[in-house]
Parts: sequence; structure tokens; C-alpha cells
Amino acid sequence: GAPQTRTPTGAETGAPTTANGQQGAYLTTANGARLRDTDHSLKAGPRGPVLLQDHHLREKITHFDHERIPERVVHARGAGAHGVFTAYGTAEAVTRAGFLKKGRETDVFVRFSTVLGSRGSADTVRDTRGFATKFYTDEGTFDLVGNNIPVFFIQDAIKFPDIIHAGKPHPDREIPQAQSAHDTFWDFVSLHTEAQHHTIWNMSDRGIPRSYRTMEGFGVHTFRLVNEAGETVLAKFHWKPKLGVHSLTWEEAQLIGGIDPDFHRRDLYDAIEAGAYPEWELGIQVFPDTPEETFAGIDLLDPTKIVPEELAEVQPVGRLVLNRTPTNFFAETEQVAFHLGHLPPGIDVTNDPLLQGRLFSYVDTQLTRLGGPNFTQIPINRPHAAVNDMLRDGFHQHAVHAGVAPYRPNSLDGGNPFPAGDAERAFVDVPVTVAQAPKVRANPASFDDHYSQVRLFWLSMSPVEKQHIIRAYTFELGKCYHQAIKERQLQSLANIDPVLCEQVATGLGLPVPQPTVPLPDVTPSPALSQVGREWPSD
Ligand code: HEM
Repeated sequence: GAPQTRTPTGAETGAPTTANGQQGAYLTTANGARLRDTDHSLKAGPRGPVLLQDHHLREKITHFDHERIPERVVHARGAGAHGVFTAYGTAEAVTRAGFLKKGRETDVFVRFSTVLGSRGSADTVRDTRGFATKFYTDEGTFDLVGNNIPVFFIQDAIKFPDIIHAGKPHPDREIPQAQSAHDTFWDFVSLHTEAQHHTIWNMSDRGIPRSYRTMEGFGVHTFRLVNEAGETVLAKFHWKPKLGVHSLTWEEAQLIGGIDPDFHRRDLYDAIEAGAYPEWELGIQVFPDTPEETFAGIDLLDPTKIVPEELAEVQPVGRLVLNRTPTNFFAETEQVAFHLGHLPPGIDVTNDPLLQGRLFSYVDTQLTRLGGPNFTQIPINRPHAAVNDMLRDGFHQHAVHAGVAPYRPNSLDGGNPFPAGDAERAFVDVPVTVAQAPKVRANPASFDDHYSQVRLFWLSMSPVEKQHIIRAYTFELGKCYHQAIKERQLQSLANIDPVLCEQVATGLGLPVPQPTVPLPDVTPSPALSQVGREWPSD
């Protein structure tokens, strides 16, 4: 028969079944035993010694000893916020992604970051900013892991360790923190001239944003969208801030770096707490999906190239509002794990060789950073779609999986085919034709043009923006110890523009080199220097 008395279950005592850590009115051990005293170790008499048997002492100290987890290898310093994305429906013709259907609202978490500094570094340094968005869609999580600069330093992910080794502090002195003012950075970008485009964006006012709320965001890579009919287009993602694009001046950035190193983090938090919710519009540039994967002569697989907005308009597809600050920085902002492979049906990758390598890198690093393979079970990473996977066990497993047959199909637990109709909502890889070509370690020839878009950027700047760029190159290069490196970078500037080169060379007190390639013939873009533009949908 049933026992007369039994221990009540967690549910009966009111203890929630999910981990919380702050249930009940009393302080307890990690195992739930109530504690009378957490201020004194257990001693053999008031004068000691301290007893090894004091489990509470050892648990408290042990847990503290392990409080820090490795910081991100890049983008270590960041700030996050929760929000909502509302779709306009304007993307329905080109993608079947459910979260882009008209009126659909999706929860999001966004993490902004600097790239090179450590977790404790200052916010206002000259650097690229990360702009990573997790859309918790009902078809699975979509991570748009972008930056505030639309191009990247390198064209192939195999060079990522190299550019980051060059950009991080010198291995011998561990300086400078988070700035591009050093020999290895300039050594790299002058030797790898594909990096010159990203670098000029960094040297422009885009490298010192006023606020996370006034930054654009870019998916950088070209993605492939697929609609209900299975038709595909190529697309680039853009975030446009409602407040417009604004930067600090260099002098402001320096002062604020000293007065308030948490400036951007504080600004984001304070704005949201004050109800001044930051907003962005998500837009897409859409290109025909041709076998060449080019548009207006621009190779869409080259992540060091933009497609100017006057050649392909950015079409607004929805609006993001950040309206809630994190409750706990570590639990949310620190433990969030983004991944380019988190794609909903309707959005697929392309063969951009930078994108392809990223698909491997993020999960690989997160296995260490977040202590094993089960980090999708951490609350901030949990999908808002139902999960039914065959992944089992491993460090920090929180799920208590039922059944005996973690494989499909099986004849013991049930085969679980999709119910009729639901298969339509599954992810389908676009069956792109793969070229019949020899295996090579090489880039397409179109990747070799390293200067035209850098010159395009320079010529698109207003006079005051040009002055800022000249000053930034002069200041940052002035910090280099090796003259040969400054001279090599001046050579790149000569290939971009004679005025830019001459002004920086004069500032550095060095000779002005002649270009080694003909100056590219480009038409300046008006869009690049437009700041504080009107919000299109207001
Ligand atoms: C982290 C953007 C290229 C490896 C990040 C983050 C962003 C980002 C925004 C921070 C995510 C967060 O807030 O947690 C980009 C962009 C790239 C790019 C826009 C180029 C278009 C690469 C490449 C690699 C790479 C080529 C490696 C092959 C990493 C790693 C992290 C990271 C390892 C740390 C992830 C973590 O610890 O959770 N990236 N990245 N990234 N990125 Fe990239």
C-alpha cells in the first residue's frame, strides 16, 4: 500500500523545477540545507584551527574559485539587451522565414561588443563593434552575428587567427590594450592589403561610435534566401539605427575613456531603464542568385566588398526595439552563445570562405568557454521552439531524457516522423550546384582588387570626415616603433589616394611614396557620409 508519510516533492514545497538559485526565504547550501551562519568558519574553539569538515566553507570557497570562465577570444567586452523584432512582411516574397511574415513578433537578445580589448577594457576605443542578434523564432533560433562595419579584414577564415594575433596586445609586453596603435596591427594590414578597406572604416569616425544606439549593423556576408516556392535570391542584412549614425570625436573618445570607461554599456542600460528604447530597422539588399554570384561587377562572396546602396537599395523588412536590460550580466550577456549556423528555414549560407570558417569556429570555442556541449540549455541560449534532439549526456546535462532509443527511426520509443504538413516547416539546404573544379588553396581572381572600394570610401567622405581619417592614421601609425611598417602602410595609402597619403606622410615626417597600382576609377557614394538620416518608416 501507499506509505503514510513521505517527503514532499519539489513541486509540493513550492521549489520551482528550473534552476534559479534564489528560491525560498532562507540561505541554504547548494544542496538546499538551511544555513545558520555564513560569516564564520567552523573552528576547534574560537581560536581555531579551522576544521576541514566545514562543508559550507569549502563549498563557498570552491565555487568562488571557479567563478570566472574564459573570456571570449575576441569580442570579450560587451553589453546586451532584450527586445522584440516586428516584421513588416516585406520580405515574404524572397524568404519563407516565418519570423519575417507580416506582423510577426519575435523575442530577441542583442549583444554589442568591442573586438580586441579584454573584458575589462574601455568602451570608447577605436575598434570595430560587434552587433550580434539572437532571434528566438518559433522555427528555431536565428543568429545574425554582425559588426558595425560592413566589410571584414580578411577574405578567408583561415587568416582569422593571424589578424587577431596581429591586433591583440603584443605577446611580449601585453600592450596596447584594444587599440590599433601598434606595429603588429599595421604590419598585418600593410602586408595583407585586402585589410585596407576594413582599416579605413576603423580610421574613420565609424571606429569611435557615440553609442551602441547610434550604430549601423551589417551581416557582412551575402546570404541565400529561399521562398515558399523554392526560389532563391542572394541578400545582405543591414541594421539602421532610428537615432541615425553618430560618432564621438577622437578627443571626446579619449576623455570619456578616462572619465567613464563603461560609457557605452552605461548608455545602453540607462536609455532602456529610462524608457528611451533604442530601435533599429532591419533591411536587406537583394541580388539575383546567378551562377557567378556577382552584382554590378562586385563579387558577392568577397567579404571585403560592399554593394553601394545606390546600386541596390536597402529594403526595410522589420523593426527591432530593445526594451529590457539583463537581470544578470553573467547569466545573459556573458553566457550567450551566437552561431552563424543557427538559421531558420528560408535563410541559408553561401560559399563565402570567411563565412564557411566561421561556421566551425564559434561552436568550437564555446565548447571550452561554456564548459562542454550542453550550452544551448543555458537559459539565454534556450530556443523558443520545441526541441527534440538526439543529443545526450555530456558535461552539465540539465535535461532528464526519457526513453531508451536515442536514435531515429527506432521501433521502441516511436519513430517520430513529422506530422502531415509540418515537414514543410523544416530547414532545407538549398541544393546549390558545386563547381566541377580542381581542389585548390586559392581565391577567385576577383578577390584581388584591394583598393577600389577603399578609394570609394575615402572619396565619399565629407571634408571634416577626411580630416578625422588623416588624423587617425597619423596618430595610430605614429605609435609604431618600426619605420619600415609605417612606410609600407604609406605605400597602401598612396594606392588609395595621393592627398590622404601626402597628409599622413607629412604628419609622420616621412617621404611620400608613389602609387604602385593605377588609382582606381570610382564614383563616390553619397550614402556613406550621410549621418543622422531620416528614419524611413516614421
Ligand atoms: C565572436 C562578428 C569573423 C571567430 C564574434 C562576435 C561577433 C562577431 C559580433 C561576438 C558575439 C557575441 O557577442 O557573443 C564577426 C563578424 C565576422 C567575424 C561580423 C566577419 C564577417 C570571424 C571569423 C572567425 C570568428 C572569420 C573565425 C574563423 C569568432 C569567435 C568568437 C567571435 C571565436 C567568440 C565567440 C564566443 O566565444 O562565443 N564575432 N566575426 N569571427 N568570433 Fe567573429
